[in-house]
Amino acid sequence: MIYEKLSKFPDNFLWGSASAAYQVEGAWDKDGKGPSVWDIYTKLPGTTYMGTNGDVAVDHYHRYKEDVALMKEMGLKAYRFSIAWSRIYPNGKGEVNESGLKFYDDLINELIANDIVPLVTIYHWDVPQALMDAYGAWESREIIDDFNEYCITLFKAYGDRVKHWVTLNEQNVFIGLGYGTALHPPGVKDQKRLYAANHIAFLANAKAIQSFRKIVPDGKIGPSFAYSPTYPASSKPEDILAFENHEELTSHWWMDVYAKGEYPKAAYKYLASKGLAPKIKEGDIELLKSGTPDFMGVNYYRTATVEMNPLDGVGEAKMNTSGKKGTTQDSGIPGVFKTKRNEHLEATNWDWEIDPEGLRIGLRRITNRYGLPILITENGLGEFDKLEENDVVNDDYRIAYLEAHVKACKEAITDGVELIGYCTWSFTDLLSWLNGYQKRYGFVYVNKDETGDKDLRRIKKKSYYWYKEVIETNGENV
Ligand code: BG6
Repeated sequence: MIYEKLSKFPDNFLWGSASAAYQVEGAWDKDGKGPSVWDIYTKLPGTTYMGTNGDVAVDHYHRYKEDVALMKEMGLKAYRFSIAWSRIYPNGKGEVNESGLKFYDDLINELIANDIVPLVTIYHWDVPQALMDAYGAWESREIIDDFNEYCITLFKAYGDRVKHWVTLNEQNVFIGLGYGTALHPPGVKDQKRLYAANHIAFLANAKAIQSFRKIVPDGKIGPSFAYSPTYPASSKPEDILAFENHEELTSHWWMDVYAKGEYPKAAYKYLASKGLAPKIKEGDIELLKSGTPDFMGVNYYRTATVEMNPLDGVGEAKMNTSGKKGTTQDSGIPGVFKTKRNEHLEATNWDWEIDPEGLRIGLRRITNRYGLPILITENGLGEFDKLEENDVVNDDYRIAYLEAHVKACKEAITDGVELIGYCTWSFTDLLSWLNGYQKRYGFVYVNKDETGDKDLRRIKKKSYYWYKEVIETNGENV
């Protein structure tokens, strides 16, 4: 629909920005923290861009007060950050590390004192290495109870002040890249193990939500899903079918289970025929159905376009982690779908299509299929930024990207989508898991690069001032 007048953002709309522990904190072995899988994995040769890791990251652990002061000055309403499991439980379970608990307690209090709502992500990919060593982390049902204990500790410690929680960040990504393409720890390529671990993560998610209901009854909780809504490459029926396959296998497979406690039928049947479907034990479906969320968290960066892929067609392909435009190859599942570059859309230097309309489309699809409120937990542009003379960063391209996406949110609200908030990725620059420090997302430039010898000073980019105005006018200037 094309409207003459758009609805307003709600008065209490959460204008936010986000980060994740491993990508900002640093202090990887300080004050009793145990190693996470990322602390180990990034030190294996060839795993990350130029061997970068989060040992220091952008040193948010020591500079969080300075970062919160910058948020306050901007007028930020909400800050989404994650808790490092191995800072709370250095061994994944057992004894709690009080200094770890204190760090987040201080951060939460600092945010609240500055009128910023804390949005806490419980798990952003950094499972304790101890649990990987003990039982293969997400591959064992033992993790369900350990994760639940960890969650209960957090709910009890912070639930009086934190009312918005994200359970698992991008389960589709950490499981997909961890067990499908071997680009994330534990670096496995095995579809059967992928779907098995994924099912266990669903169970852990649902159990944590059950516990949450008892401990923080007045809070809201949900997972964050990396949603790339699909388009068919053409109106050929075979491409439409490929599109249906893609939506079902890459999106409904996760969101249906979160929201309804059910796997989508055709996708389950297909995976079962290949011997890849997860084993569903007695009580699993009951647990999934009783641990549904209050909102769907959405991380949106791009759409995907697909076409028919013959049985002897392409499979896995190369991902662009260098920022050299055009180095991504089309990939697919033979007999199911194949990705295709969408010629109607511009792409970033990392070949991610820029598609604000796709955000509106995705939000509507979620609203219609699940009827849940939505919290945009991430949206942003990863680009090379240039630090100019006198500490200036003119990131007009980021402003253009974000402005178009905020407008898409407004249109979606006009369409009837119940949108609780919008978090950009990210507040400060940070470590991109596989792409080093050169792929920047922040409103605040951090003087740090792959060489590691910079002073980490914070510099407000042009986009910082732009977002400040968006917040001041509650999105009316867009
Ligand atoms: C999401 C993650 O996948 O996208 C973030 O939740 C990540 O942690 C962000 O940094 C951007 O991805 P990338 O690969 O460009 O850093």
